[in-house]
Amino acid sequence: MKLLGAAAPAFAFGTRASAFELKGFKTPGTVDRYIDPLPIPKRLVPVANHAKATQYRVRMMEFERQMHSQLPPTRLWGYEGQCPGPVIEAFRGKTVEVRWENRLPKQHLFKVDTKIHGAMAPAPAVRAVPHVHGARTYSGSDGLPEDWLVPGQSADYEYPNEQRAAGLWYHDHAMGITRLNVYAGLTGFYLLRDDEELALKLPAGEFEVPLLLQDRTLADDGRLMYVPTLEDGTKLPPGVWGPECFGELPVVNGAIFPRMDVEPGQYRFRVVNGANARFFHLYLNLAAHPTDVPNLVRFHQIGSDGGLLSKPVAMEKLLLGPGERADLIVDFTGLAGKTVTLSNSASVPFPGWDMMVALHAPLSELMQFRVGLPSTRKGQEYSFPAQPPVARLEAAKAVLSRDFVLTERVDDTGRSLGVRINDKGYDDPVTETPTLGTMERWRFINMTDDAHPMHLHLVQFQVLERQGFDYGAFLHGGELELVGTPRPPAEHEAGWKDTAVVTPKEVLTMLVPFDGYTGRYVFHCHMLEHEDNDMMRPFQVVAAK
Ligand code: C2O
Ligand code: CU
Repeated sequence: MKLLGAAAPAFAFGTRASAFELKGFKTPGTVDRYIDPLPIPKRLVPVANHAKATQYRVRMMEFERQMHSQLPPTRLWGYEGQCPGPVIEAFRGKTVEVRWENRLPKQHLFKVDTKIHGAMAPAPAVRAVPHVHGARTYSGSDGLPEDWLVPGQSADYEYPNEQRAAGLWYHDHAMGITRLNVYAGLTGFYLLRDDEELALKLPAGEFEVPLLLQDRTLADDGRLMYVPTLEDGTKLPPGVWGPECFGELPVVNGAIFPRMDVEPGQYRFRVVNGANARFFHLYLNLAAHPTDVPNLVRFHQIGSDGGLLSKPVAMEKLLLGPGERADLIVDFTGLAGKTVTLSNSASVPFPGWDMMVALHAPLSELMQFRVGLPSTRKGQEYSFPAQPPVARLEAAKAVLSRDFVLTERVDDTGRSLGVRINDKGYDDPVTETPTLGTMERWRFINMTDDAHPMHLHLVQFQVLERQGFDYGAFLHGGELELVGTPRPPAEHEAGWKDTAVVTPKEVLTMLVPFDGYTGRYVFHCHMLEHEDNDMMRPFQVVAAK
């Protein structure tokens, strides 16, 4: 049951003239769009580079920066004082070692809800632990939620990079406050390369652009506001956990409504949905206004979370849940003089119900590309190999099947008390102990009205299928009855994934090879409000007997 009731509109910016306006600043709701250039995160410079390993040092720091040139500076947290953090570029087979240092202040940017699991006393408010999302590494370097560091502490993590080239990303993962730490700005790109990818001659250098898509709410004085909501849009006071947090403004690479000047040629975009809870249904629009008849620019998706697809997939729209990535080629050839708006049609919450969706403001536009630069490239074209790089896994080879029922607990007014996997919390004993070197079939059974992007650490999996089930019968204790025809993944989802969306009242089945290392890892919903309370469970990979 969902709560119905009076709701505050999501857009509620101040209207009276404030001291900030008098200083020449605007309010967040009135800033001019597409006047600031898209920030491009820089490559991180190693502190040492040996034959065996490249070493980096990354400090988590508080800093101030204008997120829009018409707004006062915003206090943020970021890796090396940047948001997104610097790009860590890695090569397959060459180890990366990072000394992660917590240099954050003793006080959190936001009020912490100390009633939820993992954030209770005596846990200090400021704790952080970095996780490289999509990386296959040792349990001790994975950034488990309980492995947090307090200010002044550091940890040395090692990433063997024994996996295919892929667009990975790093972000905070501290127990019970991941949503606050990531919202404060603790995110960055980790681009893993290999010879297979380099051989394709994809657009590189300034023509390869990382895009971190987020949403943020700012106060008139530029302060970053974390405002969670109930499903009906009711805003919750600071320090109270809510099932979702949607920002009122689009933020790409740390900038509000940025724009990028591009050449009429091919670009490669490494897209991450780094929002806490917002899904993005992306399209490229030539029309001047979101209400005009859309005039779509087709693009190609060449890679998913875990690396290249078997072949480029031509698309007009792309859905990305929180945590998912896409490797895209956009060809601006022939569009000289035109403006292309990166637009979004995903409702909030996603997929939403008519009543609820109307209560949240959509973010229909994120950024713009102006095709205005002279072309400096002649006839550069990437080409995919004849041999598809992704072989489909065979379901019959799964040694074990596991079911995970996703539920939401509500109080008698319908207000969410948290979400769970198999009605267990993170601290309940480990129930999943896959054997290293085997493949399992995992089914996520969604009993809620929200779509959940489910993410597993350590592994890259393949989506086998999605299918409906008899919700009523299952709710009342019956067996799981699948109904309708199973739907195999669309072409762009048929490669390697580490995060996949389970739609409401459906079953998502994935095939998961447990390769790499033994030890403790986690899996969870990547809506960070869900992950924190308490849709996350550990699993323990054990050695074959
Ligand atoms: Cu991107 Cu466990 O997280
Ligand atoms: Cu969720």
